[in-house]
Amino acid sequence: MGYNRVRFNNFRNIEPREIKWSPGLNLLTGPNGSGKTNILEGINIVSGWGPLERGTRSSSLPTWNSGTSEIQLTGQLNDENGEIIKVKISSRYTIKIEEETITATDLRWKIPVLSFLPNDMSIIEGSSVFRRRLMDMVLTLIVPVYASRLHDYRRGIKQKTAILRNGGRTDLIDRALLPLASWIWKMREEVLVMISESMKDMSGLIAHPTEISLLRGGSGSLPLPEEDFRYSLKINKTREEVLKVPVVGPHRDDMLITTNGTPAALSLSRGFRRRVAVALILAAAEGVKRKLGKNPVLLLDEITAELDSEGRNILFCALLERKTQVFASTAEPFTESFPGRLYGVDSGRVDIINEN
Ligand SMILES: Nc1ncnc2c1ncn2[C@@H]1O[C@H](COP(=O)(O)OP(=O)(O)OP(=O)(O)O)[C@@H](O)[C@H]1O
Ligand SMILES: [Mg+2]
Repeated sequence: MGYNRVRFNNFRNIEPREIKWSPGLNLLTGPNGSGKTNILEGINIVSGWGPLERGTRSSSLPTWNSGTSEIQLTGQLNDENGEIIKVKISSRYTIKIEEETITATDLRWKIPVLSFLPNDMSIIEGSSVFRRRLMDMVLTLIVPVYASRLHDYRRGIKQKTAILRNGGRTDLIDRALLPLASWIWKMREEVLVMISESMKDMSGLIAHPTEISLLRGGSGSLPLPEEDFRYSLKINKTREEVLKVPVVGPHRDDMLITTNGTPAALSLSRGFRRRVAVALILAAAEGVKRKLGKNPVLLLDEITAELDSEGRNILFCALLERKTQVFASTAEPFTESFPGRLYGVDSGRVDIINEN
């Protein structure tokens, strides 16, 4: 599963030419600002996920000074039908597959993609936002209604914040949030069990057994999600009223990552934290494959930063073993050992350097 070729018209600094891809590993190399991340973003958009960073405005995507705001991104799938996906962005998004309109959700199932951005490398020691992003990305792929329920939950939390700021009563909104919050906890716990299982096969990448579990936001004293949410709201009522923010619920969730029983953020060197981060995304990909029966395409931006040559080689072997299409980028000039197809990116122009 993946792309044969893509073409991006009027998209950021990328030249409007056809780019052909290997069904295996593809590595984009080039100096800072050449357009490597933009290529990965184009692939993310053509796969139904939209821009890589949440909150990116559509108006920032058309090539500057092009005189038009219309963008067209085209990708041909490398399955036996070679279907063509077209995403047009102007005042609105339209997604077509073989000229038939398709929703972003349906497209994401058709061609599952997992993306890993430079900030995600801080998944071990950085903000809980990165850990929630991983859980949400995987769940969006494997549970059809997850994205819309998460959206409803976030909207409810916004409303609750407004009520708390105005000093109002939150009983009604809490009642509406209860089924959503407890369902999201259940889903996140299940997905972490799935990823934990797959982490056991990552021993080449990580030296020690690594466990992950969910830390329910502002909660966790009772096992059943519903009871836990209700009870935690009760004991945090005054705190929420004083702080004027909701402190209980999945928007505050975190993931506990331990190696040999110690939090990985404390016990691992930076390089090894990065290896665990990479192992997590590969384990997530394995989980998605088992659930959907399709191997997700991987978008890995600046994947080799801070890995030593042994770490890079282990990573490349692990990627090869996944037998999936990978689009990776690096600004480092080390590419001789890369077991896939190499591309040079220069001012938005992409050229094949070697055909592996
Ligand atoms: N809408 C746009 N039109 C034209 N150029 C754009 C647009 N948006 C961004 N750019 C340009 O794209 C370039 C950034 O590209 P990108 O982030 O893909 O670089 P990169 O190769 O990933 O660099 P790095 O190695 O620093 O991550 C910037 O130089 C920016 O000026
Ligand atoms: Mg970049």
